Amino acid sequence: MLIDTHSHLNFKEFDKDRDEVIKRAFENGVGKIINVGTNLRGSQDSIVLAEKHENIYAAISLHPINIEKEKFDEKAWLELAGHQKVVAIGETGFDFYHSSDREKQKEIFKELIKIACQVKKPLIIHSREADQKTLDILNHSESPFSRGVIHCFDRDYTVAKKFLDLGFLISYTGNITYNKENASSISKVPLDKMMVETDCPFLAPVPFRGKRNEPLYVKYVAQKIAEIKNISFEEVAEKTTQNAKKLFGLK
Ligand code: NI
Repeated sequence: MLIDTHSHLNFKEFDKDRDEVIKRAFENGVGKIINVGTNLRGSQDSIVLAEKHENIYAAISLHPINIEKEKFDEKAWLELAGHQKVVAIGETGFDFYHSSDREKQKEIFKELIKIACQVKKPLIIHSREADQKTLDILNHSESPFSRGVIHCFDRDYTVAKKFLDLGFLISYTGNITYNKENASSISKVPLDKMMVETDCPFLAPVPFRGKRNEPLYVKYVAQKIAEIKNISFEEVAEKTTQNAKKLFGLK
């Protein structure tokens, strides 16, 4: 069994066949899915989806690329964060590739860390071209926060090590199948510190690169890790599943 620890099934790309996509995953080796909302409405939708499916769980966030599109309503977010099927706060962090207002990103990042601390749930971190800044916040936030995952990791091991040292897990997605650079940390990151994800509808792994991604394809991510670490697919599946269950408190 595999756990897709980061999907966006609430996105419009799945409006036509969401139920089939979910069924296809659950009937073919995916045991659980963490669905990540990236704004208030999306986070509410994510919870609705999690309420409908026993093996779907929700993460809630105002993604750094969405911070200018809506006002952060602390009370509303705190209420969602307390929902029993919400297992993480995020994805939050910095995106210096897409968004320009870095101060605002920092403000929202800190707000969401505060909420994660209040509800005692782990963080899903989005860090794009911003690792040092992300590390600074995680290191120096008033309540040091060390439970969570760095999602969509494609940097080298020196960067991975800094996040591992803080206590974070590393999660890999389909872009590790695109080139060797994206996968360069995998041989050194311990198996008990990693998880797998799709980030669907984005980043479909080879052989579906460029197409819509879906939770079923998380197996290609696990396969690539097995190949690089020269271990069995089953071992990768078992370990990454254990890691996800532990981090998110899943049964
Ligand atoms: Ni994402």
